[in-house]
Amino acid sequence: MSKQLALEERFQARIDAEQKIEPKDWMPEDYRRTLIRQISQHAHSEVIGMLPEGNWITRAPSLRRKVALLAKIQDEAGHGLYLYSAAETLGISRVELYNELHAGKAKYSSIFNYPSLTWADMGAIGWLVDGAAIMNQVALCKCSYGPYARAMVRICKEESFHQRQGFEILLVLSQGTEAQRDMCQDAINRWWWPSMMMFGPNDSDSPHSAQSMKWKIKRYSNDTLRQRYVDMIAEQIKILNMTLPDPDLKWNEARGHYDFGPIDWEEFNNVLRGNGPCNRERLETRVKAWENGAWVREAAMAFAEKRTRI
Ligand code: 3HC
Repeated sequence: MSKQLALEERFQARIDAEQKIEPKDWMPEDYRRTLIRQISQHAHSEVIGMLPEGNWITRAPSLRRKVALLAKIQDEAGHGLYLYSAAETLGISRVELYNELHAGKAKYSSIFNYPSLTWADMGAIGWLVDGAAIMNQVALCKCSYGPYARAMVRICKEESFHQRQGFEILLVLSQGTEAQRDMCQDAINRWWWPSMMMFGPNDSDSPHSAQSMKWKIKRYSNDTLRQRYVDMIAEQIKILNMTLPDPDLKWNEARGHYDFGPIDWEEFNNVLRGNGPCNRERLETRVKAWENGAWVREAAMAFAEKRTRI
């Protein structure tokens, strides 16, 4: 048996025995590359994900709402930094990751290419988007790669606050005036299907799932987590006395799950191709922030170098 094969067999045995793989452990190059791909996209999603919400900080309806939204957005920035740090343990630099994002070469979750049009969107994003993220991220706490799994533990604790504050925003609106109730339903209608796409393509169309599940990077398939999400949201929305924009949504006693309608994968792929409502705006905003922040990075580096010379 070749040395490489023996190493791969020993690696898979460690994965099967639920051992955590750490940065200095031997790992197949494809395992490393898969983790860089997924963790960097996750980090980019956290950072770009701040933009739709940042749009409403100055227009929050009360100081309390503003403080909660600021705290959430600050958390997302921190999640991005944890995840860039986790990616760096795999041998890629943060600047390389930023450069890929700013050059439009890196993916981030398609959901963040949609506009946040009303205050109710802050509720729908917190409840639906962070709710989908939690469903996915709780599973990632058991990921085979140690730094990623550990980053997820803290991120999930903060995400649950994000989801609760979002749900509360919608609950208040759903008990308000007719205009507020309409705003609430409109936001749910616009964010529901893009949230469903956050779990990735159907299992049959997912090129990475089989291998990622063998390596226990992914613990559940895209469709399994999506189904759990539908089952959860379909119950929670009853409290809001609102509806999901899916005429096919129906409890299926035989399955023990909610049936739901088809996802528009053409829309999904179109957004991935850069044709979403906000793709260009998101990247331009991100690049401008990076360029405007250059002086801060230079000052910090100069200070650090001066410190080392003392
Ligand atoms: N948006 C953009 N691209 C997506 C996507 C989405 N919603 N879902 C899948 N894709 C891409 C994949 O990246 C892959 O493309 P690539 O080969 O160019 O990387 C392709 O579609 C095929 O999808 P697969 O399901 O085969 O790919 P994965 O095995 O990587 O699964 C995933 C996709 C489930 C998103 C997985 O990557 C994952 O779990 N990522 C970590 C979680 C994450 O990134 N969440 C994003 C949101 S973070 C967030 O919402 C923060 C919150 O605080 C608001």
